[in-house]
Amino acid sequence: MTFPKKVTIVEVGPRDGLQNESKNVPTSIKLEFIHRLSLTGLSVIESTSFVSPKKIPQMADHSDVIENLHREPGVIYPVLVPNIEGFNDALQAGAKEIAIFGAVTETFSQKNIHCSIAESLERFAEVIAAAKKHSIPVRGYLSCCLGCPYEGKVNPEKVKTLATKLYEMGCYQISLGDTIGIGTPHEAQKLVQIVSTLVPVEKLAAHFHDTYGQALANIFAVLELGISTVDSSVAGLGGCPYAKGATGNVATEDVLYMLNGLNIKTGVDLKKLLDAGKFICDYLGRETQSKVGKVHSLS
Ligand code: HMG
Ligand code: MG
Repeated sequence: MTFPKKVTIVEVGPRDGLQNESKNVPTSIKLEFIHRLSLTGLSVIESTSFVSPKKIPQMADHSDVIENLHREPGVIYPVLVPNIEGFNDALQAGAKEIAIFGAVTETFSQKNIHCSIAESLERFAEVIAAAKKHSIPVRGYLSCCLGCPYEGKVNPEKVKTLATKLYEMGCYQISLGDTIGIGTPHEAQKLVQIVSTLVPVEKLAAHFHDTYGQALANIFAVLELGISTVDSSVAGLGGCPYAKGATGNVATEDVLYMLNGLNIKTGVDLKKLLDAGKFICDYLGRETQSKVGKVHSLS
């Protein structure tokens, strides 16, 4: 067992969280939400995505969000970029870090980004080359690493092959997505064990949705293997519009509570995080999905 001493939490609420909310959130609320998150001690806040506004209307104000960010020192605000058009728009808006996103199954790739896996790799190569020119770091996501809503079980060897490709293409980190929250702890461990034979474990991140209530257990399981970057969404916001039934990401508050209990440093203040979660839930008129948040809302 090699639990990390420190974990970086990648807060994805403003992107993965809000992208699936049907209620339109005005840019000013998004900016206030991101600002509050910036003051919690989080060092990475994924803030928007430069995708088609027809596909994801909630992210249509991506340029306004990035142009008007109140950037805190020591915090980075990455954005999702699907192709070179998205990259150019992100660059123009002032994005300083990006993430590309692919999938490990053909059907999910087609549904989500409208191209085959091979075509997606070509798009990513173009984006990575352009990003390199501008010294913009690129993170790589892979969806459906523990199961696909269309193709079912996924062989971890397939994830290993694609994760290695993205890593060799220049992604500084590969985030392994359990898009539909279907995995269980031993499966999550097996995935990390297999992928980390070719991509160093410190270059991997866990991006687990909580659809089946397994996310915290899965995170604990992969922390044991040395994973030290965890993606999560405050108040458990979110889901994926191309994965029916997918609920939100694991709640950041719950991840933080567990990490605090394990004595693993994050630099994040739970009270401030709970307040940021409350702020966005109040706006959306929805109850927090965080267990810790629910307790907090009673006090
Ligand atoms: P495409 O190949 O052009 O195909 O776009 P399309 O038919 O899907 O395109 C639709 C329209 O978008 C076209 O316009 C394109 O020109 C335009 P039309 O001809 O209909 O007028 N378009 C763009 N518009 C704005 N910005 C762009 C852009 N590119 C093309 N950059 C594309 C492919 C990927 C852009 C499109 O399919 C799309 O936007 N899909 C949405 C993908 C998305 O945001 N999914 C959710 C995020 S991924 C996720 O949540 C998983 C993750 O969290 C990890 C996990 O949990 O697994 C990361
Ligand atoms: Mg996700």
